[in-house]
Amino acid sequence: MSALPQAGREPVLSLEAVSKAFGGLRAVDQLSFDVHSGEIVGLLGPNGSGKTTAMNLISGALVPDAGRIRFAGRDIAGLPPHRIARAGIARTFQLVRVFRTMSVRENVRAGATFGGRPPAGPMGAFVDGLIERVGLAGQADRLAGEITYIDQKRVELARALAAQPQVLLLDEWLAGLNPTELGVALELIRSLRGGNVTILMVEHVMDAIRSVCDRCVVMNAGAKIAEGPPAQVLADPAVITAYLGDDHA
Ligand SMILES: Nc1ncnc2c1ncn2[C@@H]1O[C@H](COP(=O)(O)OP(=O)(O)OP(=O)(O)O)[C@@H](O)[C@H]1O
Ligand SMILES: [Mg+2]
Repeated sequence: MSALPQAGREPVLSLEAVSKAFGGLRAVDQLSFDVHSGEIVGLLGPNGSGKTTAMNLISGALVPDAGRIRFAGRDIAGLPPHRIARAGIARTFQLVRVFRTMSVRENVRAGATFGGRPPAGPMGAFVDGLIERVGLAGQADRLAGEITYIDQKRVELARALAAQPQVLLLDEWLAGLNPTELGVALELIRSLRGGNVTILMVEHVMDAIRSVCDRCVVMNAGAKIAEGPPAQVLADPAVITAYLGDDHA
């Protein structure tokens, strides 16, 4: 499907001149972009460019100093995280956060209670289906604090999906995977396409960006410096300079 049919449609998520400073540091500076329903959008940029801060502003962990964040037609900027979660935005964290003393199954079940849409069928089958989908079958009864870091990331994804979000925010979910795990994880993300979920993903793994993102937004020093299809933005001299410095431009 081409990107063109989105023209004229209301975006599901829209940032308008959103800013956030920490003291004198403009972590997010007049950031504007749209995400349309069903898209997978990559949020790119060098370390410290403001990507996680942007995710925190969307999910309500931080309150913007200025600007508007519209989700499904309403302004969500400044709402508390649980209200935003309930409205239909779920996330995973750059530094994994699981309930370590709860089982994998309990973690995922908790996700269903954060969200706005309860499962249509029985909770047990719904939760176990998600656990299997993210590759954790057989680990459901283990404590989340006792499984590997990568498996904890899978728990986070299943927990986010259990909320049946309209928009899923992934902050470097693919980081740290070996090539085999990466292939499986990319398949999983692709499999979410068309399942009513829209994805905004912070990512550094270039192969992942090229193979799953419909579009990318690139940040540098808090501001948007490029936007477009992956091949286009990754070839953009301003993007290359931002990642590599002036010497490589
Ligand atoms: N709570 C905070 N207090 C003060 N400064 C912060 C805070 N959170 C982030 N920053 C600073 O804001 C800038 C943007 O940080 P952010 O974590 O959003 O970057 P990022 O693009 O996610 O980087 P990375 O790729 O390393 O994850 C950085 O300079 C960071 O040190
Ligand atoms: Mg980050």
